[in-house]
Amino acid sequence: MRHRKIQSPRYPRVQLMMRLCLSSMIFSTACVAAERDMTTPSAGVIHAKMAYCQDCHGPSGQGYAGFAPIPRIGGQTTRYLANQLKAFAESRRDANASIAMSSIHGPSEPMRAALAEHFSKLEPEPIADGPKGLVAAGKRIYAEGVLASNVPACSACHGPEARGKAEIPRLSGQLYPYTVQELESWSTKRGTDPANADMAAVMIPVAHAMSHDQIAAVAAYLSYLK
Ligand code: HEC
Ligand code: HEC
Repeated sequence: MRHRKIQSPRYPRVQLMMRLCLSSMIFSTACVAAERDMTTPSAGVIHAKMAYCQDCHGPSGQGYAGFAPIPRIGGQTTRYLANQLKAFAESRRDANASIAMSSIHGPSEPMRAALAEHFSKLEPEPIADGPKGLVAAGKRIYAEGVLASNVPACSACHGPEARGKAEIPRLSGQLYPYTVQELESWSTKRGTDPANADMAAVMIPVAHAMSHDQIAAVAAYLSYLK
């Protein structure tokens, strides 16, 4: 599989940060920036936190495909963003990742709401990094599903233009390697607290029904979609 490396001078701190976070077994304070109280944070504090998120997710939340894919969050639905930040905070998502995702993504509830609101309003250009030759096949699977292997039409839930709605995420313009990675490891990364079931359950049968080739095709299609 081809994971194109995108090097952009607009992300001078990302690689360093990821390396810092990955290399420290004890989570470094540079990677943690948690306010855990429930008071509404000031505009200045919110602004500082946004800059922290943008260091990894890009200045307009367009994502970053370095050695580990960092998803696009710009233009994502507010509800999905808030849900995922809560899932990270409660260790229902990526609890076993090598970097402490719950500390990175788990500020206070009012801060999570402010960040979700901010990033949902951005509209970055797609990075468009999937293999072009797979786009036509991916488009077909997205719109129609694959009856023979019980893959449902993605459009039925994610919408005809993959813009999502409320708790159903936007998929258009997402990074190719990120979409592939999520669909190939759904059940090990999401909804991992059986005592606290969440929306991730909806995608289990979908992800499990898909073959590697089908996943690659849909991910390629989505990476170009505005
Ligand atoms: C050290 C880098 C780093 C920082 C800083 C960071 N993130 Fe992330 N974020 C990631 C990675 C990597 C993932 C993908 C996790 C996975 O593999 O599922 C991610 C995933 C997410 C997701 C889930 C996206 C989706 O489509 O499901 C959201 C939402 C998110 N981050 C928001 C934020 C916000 C808001 C901040 C600031 C508080 C932030 N991130 C800070 C690296 C980072
Ligand atoms: C029955 C409705 C439904 C169908 C059909 C469906 N999805 Fe989803 N999908 C969801 C929901 C709900 C979520 C959010 C899960 C969560 O919050 O944990 C999701 C999440 C995702 C994500 C994670 C997005 C991110 O940013 O991390 C991907 C990727 C995805 N779906 C791909 C697909 C593909 C590809 C198809 C078609 C083959 C598809 N889905 C069909 C409901 C659906």
